[in-house]
Amino acid sequence: MVSVAIDGPSGAGKSSMAKRLAAELGYTYVDTGAMYRSVGLYALRAGKDPADNAAVEALLPQIHLDILLKDGTQHVLLNGEDVSSAIRAEEVGMAASAVGANPAVRAFLLDTQRNLAKSRDVLMDGRDIGTVVLPDATVKIFLTASPEARAQRRFAELQAKGEQADFETVLADIRRRDDQDTHRATAPLRRADDAVLVDTSELDIEQSFALLKQTILDHIG
Ligand code: DC
Repeated sequence: MVSVAIDGPSGAGKSSMAKRLAAELGYTYVDTGAMYRSVGLYALRAGKDPADNAAVEALLPQIHLDILLKDGTQHVLLNGEDVSSAIRAEEVGMAASAVGANPAVRAFLLDTQRNLAKSRDVLMDGRDIGTVVLPDATVKIFLTASPEARAQRRFAELQAKGEQADFETVLADIRRRDDQDTHRATAPLRRADDAVLVDTSELDIEQSFALLKQTILDHIG
C-alpha cells in the first residue's frame, strides 16, 4: 500500500492540496484534522472547555466517530450525524487545536487513523502523520509557509466569502494555533527527519500543486 503523509501548520493549504493530489493520483484522502475537529465540536456542544483534559477525556466514551470514504471524499459522522460542514467553523478549529494537546484524545483517534491506511492507498494530512501515525509512510512531506503568507491567504478566503475579517486578527490566530500545535507535549507538530520540506511562501497555488505532485511521484517511483 502507498501512504503519503502531509504534515504542516494550519493554513499552509494542506487540505486543499491533499484533496486535489489524492484525486489526481487515485488515492483516498484522509483528513485527520476533521477527527480532532469532531471531538472539539462535541466538547463545545457539551459545554466543556476543550482545554480541560480531564473533562474532555470523560466525554470520549460518549463519542462514536465513523469515517465514510465516498468517492475519495471523507465524511465524518459524529454519533451518526454528518458534521463535515459544522466542523469547519473557526471556533471549532481552535477547539480542535486544544483537544489535540490531550494525550487521551490522540490515543482515541490513533487506531482509526492507522486502520484507514491498512487496506488502501492513502494521502493523509495532519500534524503528526509522518512522526507518529504512519512512521513508515512511503513519502513524507512537511508543507509550510510563513505565518504572514498563510494569514494573507486565509484573509483573502474570508473576504471572498463575504465574511468580516481583520488581517491582524487572522495573523494572531494563526500564530496562536502554531504555538499551541508546536509546543504541546504529545505528538507536537514537527517535521519528521525524513520528510521533504515544501515551503510555499513564495509560490502560488498552481506552483505549489506542481511541486507537491512531482515530489510525490519522485518518491513512489
Ligand atoms: O488541519 P486542521 O486545521 O483541520 O486541524 C485542526 C486542529 O486539530 C489543529 O490545530 C491541531 C489538531 N490536529 C492535530 O493535533 N493532529 C492532527 N493530526 C491533525 C489536527
